Amino acid sequence: MTILVCSDPRSADVLGTAVGGAHVVAHLGALRRHLSDSDDELVVIGPDIDLAAASEFAAAARVDRPALGVVLVRHRVDTGVLGQALRAGFREVVPAHETQRLGQACVASRALSEQVRRAAGLTPATTERRRGRIVTVFGGKGGAGKSIVATNLGVALAQSGTTACLVDLDLAFGDVAVLLGLFPERTLADAVPMASSLDAAGAASLVTAHASGLHTVLAPAEPRTAEHVPADLVTRLLPLLAERYDVVVVDTPPAFTEHVLAALDATDELILVTTPEVPSIKNLKLTLQTLDLLGHPADRRRIVLNRADAQLEIDADDVAQMVGASVHTEVPADRTVPLSINRGVPVVLDQPKHPVAHAIRRIAATLDSRPEPPPDPVRHRSARRGLRRKAAVR
Ligand SMILES: Nc1ncnc2c1ncn2[C@@H]1O[C@H](COP(=O)(O)OP(=O)(O)OP(=O)(O)O)[C@@H](O)[C@H]1O
Ligand SMILES: [Mg+2]
Repeated sequence: MTILVCSDPRSADVLGTAVGGAHVVAHLGALRRHLSDSDDELVVIGPDIDLAAASEFAAAARVDRPALGVVLVRHRVDTGVLGQALRAGFREVVPAHETQRLGQACVASRALSEQVRRAAGLTPATTERRRGRIVTVFGGKGGAGKSIVATNLGVALAQSGTTACLVDLDLAFGDVAVLLGLFPERTLADAVPMASSLDAAGAASLVTAHASGLHTVLAPAEPRTAEHVPADLVTRLLPLLAERYDVVVVDTPPAFTEHVLAALDATDELILVTTPEVPSIKNLKLTLQTLDLLGHPADRRRIVLNRADAQLEIDADDVAQMVGASVHTEVPADRTVPLSINRGVPVVLDQPKHPVAHAIRRIAATLDSRPEPPPDPVRHRSARRGLRRKAAVR
């Protein structure tokens, strides 16, 4: 848990989001009280806290509690502030408006704390490493609504106070940036040079924050760049993100690509999106059969019937009968969805009381951050090899 010292609620809100969720205390006295009773390893000191008092705290912590990282946020960072911060032993000094950098500084500080603990022979702060839930949104048919579900789900989670990161694995034609009205300044393409050595700080450097508090790792802006993103990168990236966020949502292309298979290996919950149309339901059935072949456990799948419409004569029961598995949630068809796309504002933000938003929040409410252990990787991998062989024969 990150402890944020900040007496201004608005700054606390912005900074808390930037660090991926924090316990906020209003002054240094409250911080000392909190720390006396916890083994937290990261303190962020907000720009409204007096520098001299903050420096005194950091200098004392360096001696009394060397594994504790203290990051200082200031409205203005000049040589005077930097000098004082250096003498006091702050891990980093970050300008208040550079929220992205603050997130990265926190990840780097946590990694350093772990090194300090290991070097000092101390036990880890928590006996178990924190591990958020990886939720992949998939569907074998293009246009079923995977990206709509994934983006709205990510925002709904962030709004509920869950720290969430949405990864766009539709590498060639990913829509997450457009659906959230984000500019893809950093994307998965930036991870290519550090693919084999990606660490927590590297993963954090890929993140683009959305105003809702949702963090994202966007798909490359150029479809051609997608070819250079190795599947191994996904294998490294998702668990790193899961250490930082309560839930990592993964949006996917409509095919079992190498990247999707890598994501499935790490997935705790799989959301399968279909529409009430025969081709989409047929593909759902094929997808379920393929997942069985891959050894993916059926109890970790949820079927979402998107664009449900009473006039279409195919309802959730019909879908369940056709595919042999029940529908978890129905998301109604409504023109508010394309309208929200054109505005670049997800429905859960734009129209939080709309039935589409309610349906998405129902899905979000059933996802918590305590996953079952991931599926047996050996069984999983051998099934994948079989699948690849079959694909090669075709
Ligand atoms: N519940 C809904 N009601 C009305 N329209 C919807 C709904 N869900 C999705 N759509 C429409 O379907 C289109 C496709 O949705 P989306 O992009 O989420 O599909 P996708 O499965 O991610 O597609 P792709 O496989 O191409 O990535 C959207 O542009 C939107 O207009
Ligand atoms: Mg999509």
